[in-house]
Amino acid sequence: MTELPYRSLSARKAVPSYWHRPGEQICLHLGESPFPPTESVQQAIRDAASVANYYPDTNAVALRDDLAGYVGHKVRPEQIIVGNGSDDLIQLVVQTFLSKGGTVVSFEPTFFYYGFCTAREGERYAPMFRRRADRYNVPGMEEIHSHLQKEKPDLVFLANPNNPTGGLVDRQHVLQLLEWTPGILVVDECYFEFAGLSVVDLIHEHENLIVLRSLSKGFSLAGVRIGYAVACRERIDAMERMALTFPVNAIAQTAARAALRETEIMRERIRQIVAWRKNLACELIRLGLDVFPSHTNFLLVCSGLLNKIPDDCALRLSERGILVSDQTHTPGIEGTALRITVGTPGQLERLLQEIREFVTGN
Ligand SMILES: Cc1ncc(COP(=O)(O)O)c(C=O)c1O
Repeated sequence: MTELPYRSLSARKAVPSYWHRPGEQICLHLGESPFPPTESVQQAIRDAASVANYYPDTNAVALRDDLAGYVGHKVRPEQIIVGNGSDDLIQLVVQTFLSKGGTVVSFEPTFFYYGFCTAREGERYAPMFRRRADRYNVPGMEEIHSHLQKEKPDLVFLANPNNPTGGLVDRQHVLQLLEWTPGILVVDECYFEFAGLSVVDLIHEHENLIVLRSLSKGFSLAGVRIGYAVACRERIDAMERMALTFPVNAIAQTAARAALRETEIMRERIRQIVAWRKNLACELIRLGLDVFPSHTNFLLVCSGLLNKIPDDCALRLSERGILVSDQTHTPGIEGTALRITVGTPGQLERLLQEIREFVTGN
């Protein structure tokens, strides 16, 4: 079992909020949307603030109704639980379904919180590793099969698309994983709005599937904190028994409902971000860097054949007011690597000017 560097850290220390000053800095390090909440979402937040003396709906009935409509595939509100961001639901899944002495499997490099929550419970984290030579796709299915047979995990986490590598696993792979996973398979679709691919319809036939989603990325609501999980009724009931009384505050519930009324605006914004991502990838490749295929709102960028990313690149960029995520020490990442969120064209132009100077000396 590999020791992961964040074991001894608190979740807060693992996220570099101490150098995060939107407005003064170009923030391309946390996968946030460059678009602010729409005007009507902002108005809904102001309206909700004026009645914040009342408790929120503990069951978030109206929001779960709206989410069921958005998710589609005959998903019913009672098959959904909402949380304070999908982070909250990852923790809830681990607390609810990981038994004493149990094991969690995932595919590193991946979202740090799966390993972090497992370690916090004092249980075994036995990830498999993606390889750079395989473009950070998940390992071969035979390898996965024997790992699952050996480890017999309570939980398998698959971020799809994956953070920080950006890649996507197809439906056939997920179906195979569902069949082989002895416990629960959690498919984290935090970036669903960018990828367009979902397995949420499979919850009707597979009781061992939990799908996680978020309004942080596609819906521009990272600061409001709304995530949701979709699964069969029994799994959702089990999670509800472990959840806080008021997991999602009233302002967040109202903001989420307002955002869900504007899916067309959201989709148009996604189209723009995807176009900007493609341009950014072309420019970085032109600089001789290695850019991994992404189905998200960020790119993983490594040193390439032609040019190297200096080890202190993220630090030097931060000194010039541009924050990117240094992934060099992320478990499973080979070589120097940056995760760059797709910002606005103006922000990306600034970023490219600096990177060009660091990697080519011009
Ligand atoms: C794969 C993945 N899952 C979950 C999250 C957490 O998102 P949130 O708690 O904002 O919903 C993130 C955040 O970056 C992520 O990349």
